[in-house]
Amino acid sequence: MAEVELPGGVKAWSVTSYEEIRKLLIDPRVSKDAYQHWNAWRSGEVGPEWPLAIWVSVQNMVTAYGEEHTRLRKPVATAFTAREVTALRPRVAELTEGLLDGLAALPDGAAVDLRERFAHPLPMAVMSELFGIPAHRHGTLHRIIKTFFSTAIEREEAQANVELLYATMADLVAEKRLAPGEDLTSLLIAVRTDDGTAISEKELIDNLILLYTAGYETTVNLIDNAVAALLSHPGELDRLRKGEARWTDAVEEALRFDAPGAHSVLRYAVEDIVVGDTLISKGDAIMVSYAAAGRDPQWHGPEAHLFDVTRPTRRDHCSFGHGTHYCLGAQLARMEAEIGLSRLFERFPDMTLAVAPDELRPQSSFISNGHQELPVHLAPVARAPGRGGTASPAVRPRSR
Ligand code: HEM
Repeated sequence: MAEVELPGGVKAWSVTSYEEIRKLLIDPRVSKDAYQHWNAWRSGEVGPEWPLAIWVSVQNMVTAYGEEHTRLRKPVATAFTAREVTALRPRVAELTEGLLDGLAALPDGAAVDLRERFAHPLPMAVMSELFGIPAHRHGTLHRIIKTFFSTAIEREEAQANVELLYATMADLVAEKRLAPGEDLTSLLIAVRTDDGTAISEKELIDNLILLYTAGYETTVNLIDNAVAALLSHPGELDRLRKGEARWTDAVEEALRFDAPGAHSVLRYAVEDIVVGDTLISKGDAIMVSYAAAGRDPQWHGPEAHLFDVTRPTRRDHCSFGHGTHYCLGAQLARMEAEIGLSRLFERFPDMTLAVAPDELRPQSSFISNGHQELPVHLAPVARAPGRGGTASPAVRPRSR
């Protein structure tokens, strides 16, 4: 564990051990509610002008504590049953095929940004159908969410983005009230309208903000990271093709290897808490590093940094959280990744990275853990006349 300084000089404790994280995530002395339990927020030392304030000020289930959390999670949890998610499977498969057809129709030879052309549009399409987000809002929401996840952002840009986010959500909710559909947004609005005391308008909007952001950018990162890992570890891809491992194993290992959300939003000590030999004082902020938990050599061994689809500890990650805040969309995200990855590699078996793995540029964020772009060649690139080799660089093996 280490004391870290976030942008703007904000102090927090960063917990990196898999075992300590598992303990803290179920410890009732750890809260998500800054208004009740973060000294710096309560005193005004950190306020709305902090560029990352939206992660703290938003009042939905992910920032709620105790009974408040149960109240805010319940209406959404009823919609995310295993049965509901399983029913989406054929539609996810259909959307995947449509995107793959689009990729197959691209001109031969040029490098394709797979994040933009596949990893991003698949979760965007699934979320839009699930929540009934009309097509004319996709572009704006995409830009808002991208800025939302950037942690290297100036105050003015962050504030303008938050204003646009709330204005867009208010418009969307107003539209749905006028013309409700069979979608989750309409369902959650109906729950609120039927019983006005159960959930306030701000909580409704903030829950929707959580669902649109948490359910989308993270799934994009999962698909992006899994493709990057498999293309940089062709031996692991072979094992999947030979049936030595299943696609669900590859998804779990990708989640462990590169947590799509590297860190959680802040937590706060309700009382003094001792972690290892360090005291976290009451009112201090705590950051949980899901990315570090997945690579913890104490738990995963000295080869924790290697991508291995049959690793016995591949399911031992906290990439969907743990305890009461465990991700409501984990099953949906796993399903999207499994269908998306298996069909992508069946359809384009000769796909290669168009740059060396260490040239892939990470997002500017300590929360969102994916690449800025994922350039690939979908098929072998023809040799230039009179020159040896292919235009694709050699794929580098194993560790990153
Ligand atoms: C690969 C994709 C995903 C990853 C890595 C992911 C990760 C996480 C993590 C780590 C948490 C816990 C946050 C915390 O304890 O501070 C969480 C919570 C949550 N996730 Fe996901 N998520 C993913 C996809 C989704 C999807 C598809 C949805 C919904 C459509 C979703 C909805 C939620 C919600 C509502 C919560 C809050 C639960 C609570 O506070 O009780 N997530 N997610």
